Amino acid sequence: MNFPTVLESINDLNVEQVKYLLNTADGLKYNPRKYTFYETRRPVVATCFLEHSTRTRNSFVLAAEKLGAIYLNFDPDTSSLKKGENIEETFYTLKSQGVDLCIIRTPIPGELRPLKENPPFKIINGGDGMHQHPTQALLDLFTMIETGFNPHGKTMAIIGDCEHSRVSHSLIDLITMMGGNIILCGPSGCLPKSTLNPNVELCYDVEYAINNSDLLYLLRIQKERHKRFGATNYFCDYPWTHGVTMERLKKLSKNIPVYHPGPINLGVEIGQCIINNPTNKHELGYMGYEQVRHSLWMRMAIIMAMLERQI
Ligand code: CP
Repeated sequence: MNFPTVLESINDLNVEQVKYLLNTADGLKYNPRKYTFYETRRPVVATCFLEHSTRTRNSFVLAAEKLGAIYLNFDPDTSSLKKGENIEETFYTLKSQGVDLCIIRTPIPGELRPLKENPPFKIINGGDGMHQHPTQALLDLFTMIETGFNPHGKTMAIIGDCEHSRVSHSLIDLITMMGGNIILCGPSGCLPKSTLNPNVELCYDVEYAINNSDLLYLLRIQKERHKRFGATNYFCDYPWTHGVTMERLKKLSKNIPVYHPGPINLGVEIGQCIINNPTNKHELGYMGYEQVRHSLWMRMAIIMAMLERQI
C-alpha cells in the first residue's frame, strides 16, 4: 500500500490507508518487537512549527526518536527567516541538509497545498490555520477504537468553535469516511451556515447534542481567530450556554466519554470535575490524556508509512 508524499488533509487518505495506520499503531502499542526500527540508514525527520504547540510537536519528536530517526528541530525564531529568507528557500535548504520528512505547522490555511506540486521532502501537516489537522483526527480515531468505541453507525457531538477549528474539519472528514455521524454544536458564530454532508447535523442546543450522541468531543473557542475577523464578543456566557460539566452530564444521565484535543480553557468549554475523572474506557470521564498517550503510536505509524510506503 502506498501513502502520499504530502499528507495535507484527511482527504489525502482512503479507508484502506486509515485502516493500515490503525493496525500499525496497534502493533506498535502491543507488539513493538515486530517492527524493525531505523539502525543503519537513519532517516532525518524535522519539525518546522510556525505556530505554538505542546502536544503535536512533542509527540512527533518522541515518535521520530523512538523509531531511531535523526531528529532535526528547525526553530523559526532563531533561523534566517528572521533575516528575511522566505519559507520556500528555507525548505530547499533543509532538503539539501538531508531532511527526508518534515512536520510543518503554519497559521496560514492551505499553505502546504502548493508544495504538493514539487515537494522538497515528505511533508506531514501538523495543523494549518483553520484548515486541517489530519494527524490529530487519526490519533483520536485510534484512541476511540483502542478504548472500545467504533464510530461506524454511531454519533459523535463536536461542541465548541467548530467553524474555526482545524481539528473539527479533519475529524468530520475522518469520522464520516469511517461511517459515523456528527452533530456540530456551538453558539452562533462557531458553526458553519450549512453543511452538504448528509452525515453532519448542525445544532445550537447543547443538551440536544449531548442527548443524541455516543461520544462528546469538546473544542475551545479560537479567540485568536475571532479577533482576526474583528469580533469583539468573547463568548462570556459560553460556560453556561455550551460548557460541559459533570453536573450537566449527570443531569442528562449520559455515561459517555469526553474527548478534547487541547489546549483546554478550563472552566469555559470543560469543567474541572471532568478533568478530575480521567478514563481509558468508553464510559463517563475525561479521555484527553488517553488521546495524548495514543498520539505517540499513531504518529510513529504515520512517520513509518510516509517514509517507507510512497506513491
Ligand atoms: N491538539 C493540538 O494540536 O495541541 P497543540 O497545539 O498543543 O499541538
